[in-house]
Amino acid sequence: MGNPLAIQGGKPVRAKLFPSWPVWDDTDAEAVAAVVRSGRWGRLNGDRVEAFEQAFAAFQGAAHGVAVVNGSVALRLALLAVGIEAGDEVIVPPYTFLATATSVIECNATPVFADIDPDTYCLDPEAFAAAITPRTRAVIPVHLGGQAAAMERILTVARERGIAVIEDAAHAHGATYGEKGLGSLGDLGAFSFQSSKNLTAGEGGIVLTNHAELAAAVRALHHCGRRSGGQWYEHTSLGGNYRLSELQGALLLSQMRRLADQTQRRNANGLYLNARLGLIPGILPLARGRGETLHAYHLYVFRYDAETWGVPRAAFVRALRAEGIPASEGYTIPLYRQGLFRDRAFGPYTGYTGSHPDLDYGAVHCPVCERACGSEGCWLPQSLLLGNRRDMDSVVRAVAKLFEHRGALRQATE
Ligand SMILES: Cc1ncc(COP(=O)(O)O)c(C=O)c1O
Repeated sequence: MGNPLAIQGGKPVRAKLFPSWPVWDDTDAEAVAAVVRSGRWGRLNGDRVEAFEQAFAAFQGAAHGVAVVNGSVALRLALLAVGIEAGDEVIVPPYTFLATATSVIECNATPVFADIDPDTYCLDPEAFAAAITPRTRAVIPVHLGGQAAAMERILTVARERGIAVIEDAAHAHGATYGEKGLGSLGDLGAFSFQSSKNLTAGEGGIVLTNHAELAAAVRALHHCGRRSGGQWYEHTSLGGNYRLSELQGALLLSQMRRLADQTQRRNANGLYLNARLGLIPGILPLARGRGETLHAYHLYVFRYDAETWGVPRAAFVRALRAEGIPASEGYTIPLYRQGLFRDRAFGPYTGYTGSHPDLDYGAVHCPVCERACGSEGCWLPQSLLLGNRRDMDSVVRAVAKLFEHRGALRQATE
């Protein structure tokens, strides 16, 4: 039956690599070199970080931006800015990177997990509404893979109940929801510029907001608790040094020149993959058309139905990789099942010890997330989506080849 599977010695569908990441040229190198030559390496004596804050906030449609050292800190400072305290509850999805929930613990507050929507893998707004208690102070919808969470419903519920909304937009650079940029819809939005992200300087993060007082709070928090207009060694609130360097600011500004075009390309390729992969039995692209206008596709996530294929996901992914497609199983452990939560290994952060039943993380059960982690979720990286149509066709051909050979694949795994 045609060319055998690459894992069984056949010719891989693809020998060529997909576009690599990051994308850079001499302009980027020159932007950083100019900062080196200037000798103004810290944000306190240069202007690159400030210029980047303004440019990125404007790009996402927010009034203010405060650049910080990474996305994890961006989340924590956003929570502190809205006044999260010991014993407060913050609702988070369990299908996300650890920092969405640990940023809450690092405020001495309690992350409460609410399940994801099976069609988008983002926070299910009804699960969020059901998880609200009198102690709920904030919610962190994650725009998973760059797909907008159900912001309209989440914002409506949150506003009715006086709950702050902090968008985890670590995957969502350039993405839009209706007319608005993600990260500018809630009270605050947090982005990451870590190496794999769609906009990167190796590390970094930013907090966006439309509220001047929240921006001032984040600015003080990231600058050792200093107040604007105060003396140098005057500290009026608890804060730390979470400032970004000018080298990173310059690189981010330079990298931003490509973001709009790259986002359009990923979005177009994501839609194309949806249409083509969706024709293969047991491959279910996530839903589009839920209000998002541009999907950032930091990850191209699709659902794999192991029953239709008769092949476990791990074997499917291994075989796909052998065909030259850099797929992964993504998150395989719901956050609440991580040892950190199971054992409440929260170090000195003990203020959370309240009476909420969800504090027994062993008793938490989010069936959609468990299915996504356990057998269904498959990811392709954002840099793959920077390829051309032929590159996308090779992904489709590889999956179709595996489906055609699923009998052999099944036998190889038995
Ligand atoms: C969803 C999500 N939130 C937050 C973060 C934290 O960002 P950083 O790694 O810059 O601290 C990440 C990073 O991987 C992420 O994927």
